[in-house]
Amino acid sequence: MAELVCVGCGPGDPELLTVKAVNAIKAADTIMCPASHEDRPSIALSVVSSLIDKSKNQEIVRLIFPMTKDKSVLESTWKKNAKIMAEKVLSGKNVVYITVGDPYLYSTWIYMNREIRTNHPDMKITVIPGIVSIFTFAAKVGVSVAEGSEKVAVIPSCYDLSSVKEIAKNSESMIFLKDGRYFDQVIQVLKDAGFPDNSIFAIGQDLGTDHEIIRKMTLGEVNDDTLTTKYFSILVVKRV
Ligand SMILES: C[S@@+](CC[C@H](N)C(=O)[O-])C[C@H]1O[C@@H](n2cnc3c(N)ncnc32)[C@H](O)[C@@H]1O
Repeated sequence: MAELVCVGCGPGDPELLTVKAVNAIKAADTIMCPASHEDRPSIALSVVSSLIDKSKNQEIVRLIFPMTKDKSVLESTWKKNAKIMAEKVLSGKNVVYITVGDPYLYSTWIYMNREIRTNHPDMKITVIPGIVSIFTFAAKVGVSVAEGSEKVAVIPSCYDLSSVKEIAKNSESMIFLKDGRYFDQVIQVLKDAGFPDNSIFAIGQDLGTDHEIIRKMTLGEVNDDTLTTKYFSILVVKRV
């Protein structure tokens, strides 16, 4: 029986793929990958491209997930893409769906899995975890995510930040993901919450790629030039 495997492909550096991920990708009949638009590359596909053996005729299917917050567009996209994925498996192909970082952190896989499990409860599904951007960044910048009794909050920056002030008051470490274009709003929230100026402030952009940028300073040193306008950005702010 054909199966569906979701592979977390880590933050961008192909050397950070797990052995299990590499084996699954090499064994797949069909590799499915998310892209935000027909004209845009799939980041996940770029991470694994060196593993795709053209002589084996592996089929590549790009699934388009538009970058929108419109719930009805999102839901119809999830249904459509999950149907494409499930039908391919039901046709007898071993399908690998690749996604950046880990499949269970802010990933399109979460919605694919939910739909397919509901509509095809007998389908064999395996998930291979991937290295999360947060830990890639911690390793590169040398800042611990949490130590001892510290509490850490992970916040998606592109949504309503009204509750973040209270969270910031009660956390030692704050990690902001999902879209560097919103980080300027985050700085104000942190300052309003009384995060001290001497807090560690570290920002990483396009980690694991040739155009990776990493900066580390204090919250008090941040200015407009420090901030990033890239979607693939991560911000760690930590009390000292
Ligand atoms: C849709 S979430 C996916 C998270 C992913 N599943 C993970 O485990 O890291 C995308 C966000 O993750 C962060 N991210 C993922 N990969 C990154 C990278 N290579 N460099 C910087 N940020 C990254 C960014 O905050 C980006 O906006």
